[in-house]
Amino acid sequence: EKGGYDYFMLKEIAEQPKAVADTLLGRIDAAGSLTLDEVRIGAAELREVDKVVIVACGTAFHAGLIAKYAIEHWTRIPCEVELASEFRYRDPILDRQTLVVAISQSGETMDTLMALRHAREQGARVLAICNTNGSTIPRESDAVLYTHAGPEVAVASTKAFLTQLVACYLVALYLGQVRGTKWGDEIRDVVRELSRISREVERVLETMEPVRELARSLADKGTVLFLGRHVGYPVALEGALKLKELAYMHAEGFAAGELKHGPIALIEEDMPVVVVTPSPRGRSVLHDKIVSNIQEIRARGARTIVVAEEGDEAVVPYADHLIRIPATPTLLQPLVSTVPLQVFACELATARGNEVDQPRNLAKSVTVE
Ligand code: F6R
Repeated sequence: EKGGYDYFMLKEIAEQPKAVADTLLGRIDAAGSLTLDEVRIGAAELREVDKVVIVACGTAFHAGLIAKYAIEHWTRIPCEVELASEFRYRDPILDRQTLVVAISQSGETMDTLMALRHAREQGARVLAICNTNGSTIPRESDAVLYTHAGPEVAVASTKAFLTQLVACYLVALYLGQVRGTKWGDEIRDVVRELSRISREVERVLETMEPVRELARSLADKGTVLFLGRHVGYPVALEGALKLKELAYMHAEGFAAGELKHGPIALIEEDMPVVVVTPSPRGRSVLHDKIVSNIQEIRARGARTIVVAEEGDEAVVPYADHLIRIPATPTLLQPLVSTVPLQVFACELATARGNEVDQPRNLAKSVTVE
């Protein structure tokens, strides 16, 4: 059942190109338009949406954080992302014009379920993004967009996360398409890139041996920090979460711009710091800023592990270790930049003798609040 792999997690990491392709299948037509008939919320209603609120937990929450950048950019609808466990306790402002998106692999996470029940009680419409057919969260939602990752067995979420991202992009692009947006050309380009992205994920997987080697060499470290900007920031959070749950190491993700507001004090000689670098094309201001962040931490002794696009030469002088990813449109980069961080955490866990598929104290689906 592990298909020749030592762990389900390794198998599921390897299945990501297919999972991504399957989640796109049948949802983009030949002309590059999105056909999300499953989203049974009518076009007229979608045009009236004036706020999107995403609720989710853990890794699914990180997918939601990335979705916010895509939704606000392509649709200009304000979007909030909230931990499902916090949501209903603060009396959130919701009405018929609010679209609540609940993201959950299992479809059974109690925190997320309670959040969506609360949202529906307040009159909001709920769209579920879910990987498990017929589970409770989609059954209690107004509509569902299934991710087609296939069953995910390892406790740590990998392929489900990538497909949650794909589903979020589809929702963002669909909202843009239904409402009309000034980004028509960009949307067409992105749809084209999305249909090619599965191949790029595969290319990343083919180049992971140096990442595994690096991970093994860090097995005795106490702390690993992760930095990112823009969509790289949630990717940094996800990299840190994977490391905590699998390697039982102290790991934290930060927005690189926040370093100077406190976290930079943590940096010690030879502390590994993973930096998720935005594309030097497109939003290049971000890229310049992160290059100076890398310089700053290196000057303070950090061992820099830089995840950067092929062709990004500006980071080379400051990278103790360089992990290359294919060039992608900025908003889609998490689909490729997350993969090395999954491999990194999995290998570190193995090197430390941990049970990869069943980390201590964790369960695959959390059905208590
Ligand atoms: C981390 C992980 C958890 C889940 C979270 C939500 O690798 O798997 O953080 O993402 O418990 O679970 P679902 O998506 O089933 O609602």
